[in-house]
Amino acid sequence: MAGESSPILEVSGLTCTMGGKVVLEDISFCVSRGEIFGVMGVSGVGKSTLLRNIMGLVRPDAGEIRVGGTNVVGLPEKQLNAVRARMGMCFQYAALFDSMSVYDNVAFGLRRLGLAEAEIAQRVDHYLDIVGLSGTGHLMPSDLSGGMRKRVGIARALAPEPELVLYDEPTSGLDPILAATIDALIVKLRDQFGVASVVVTHDVDHLFGYADRAMMLHEGKALACGPPEELRRSEDPVLRQFITGSVEGPIQVDTL
Ligand SMILES: Nc1ncnc2c1ncn2[C@@H]1O[C@H](COP(=O)(O)OP(=O)(O)OP(=O)(O)O)[C@@H](O)[C@H]1O
Ligand SMILES: [Mg+2]
Repeated sequence: MAGESSPILEVSGLTCTMGGKVVLEDISFCVSRGEIFGVMGVSGVGKSTLLRNIMGLVRPDAGEIRVGGTNVVGLPEKQLNAVRARMGMCFQYAALFDSMSVYDNVAFGLRRLGLAEAEIAQRVDHYLDIVGLSGTGHLMPSDLSGGMRKRVGIARALAPEPELVLYDEPTSGLDPILAATIDALIVKLRDQFGVASVVVTHDVDHLFGYADRAMMLHEGKALACGPPEELRRSEDPVLRQFITGSVEGPIQVDTL
C-alpha cells in the first residue's frame, strides 16, 4: 500500500499511438498529493490523450501510470473502476449525459458510490452552488449554454470528492469572471482539502498564477517541467514562444 507521502500520480515511460501516429513518446512525471500540475502544449499535441490514458480510457503502447500506487495500464475493468473512483475527470467538451437532468448528471458518480439519496441531494446542491449553478438541477443539458454545460461537468467531477481531479481546459469558453471563479475553486480544493489537480489549459498566464508546477508537451515529448518561475526563465525557444504567444518562432502554425 502506498503511503501518504507517495505521489498520487506517477507516469513513467508513457508512449501512446493514436490513429497510427505516435502522439506521446516516453513521457514521465509525478504529481504529489495536493499539488496543482499544469499541462500545456499546442493544439493536437496530445494533452487530452494524456488525460484519457490516466483515466484508463486509452491503452498506451508502453509505460506505467500509477494512481495512488496502482498501475492502471492493463488493469481489468472492475479494478480500474475502483481506481477511477479516486479521480474526477472534467472533459474538454463537458460530455454530459444528454438524456439526464443536470441533477442526475451530478448525482451519477454519487449513486455509483452507493450514497443515500439525502446525502446525494445535499452534495448535488453544494457542488452546483460552488460552480454558480444553484437551482438548475431540473434543467436538461440541451437547455444550457456551453459555459453552463462545462460547469455542470466540473460539478459532476468534483461531487464524489476525489483525491485527484483531471481538468481538460476547464475555463475555455467561459467569461473572465467565471474562469477566475473556476481557477479559485481549483486552488481552494488544494489549499483546504489537499486535492491534487492536473490542469490542461492554454491560459498560461492564469495557470502560472496558481500552479505548483507545469509541463510543456512538444512533438510527443515533455519539453520542460518545473515551477512557473523556472519555466518563465527558460531560454528554450519553443517554450518561450508558447509562453509569450508569439507568432514568430520555431512553432509553425499552418494558416489557410
Ligand atoms: N480517437 C482518436 N483516433 C485517432 N486519432 C486520435 C484520436 N484522438 C486523438 N487523436 C489524435 O491524437 C493527437 C492528439 O490529440 P489530442 O486530442 O490529445 O490533442 P490536444 O493536445 O488535446 O489538442 P487540443 O488542444 O486541440 O484539445 C491528434 O493528432 C489527434 O488527431
Ligand atoms: Mg484536447
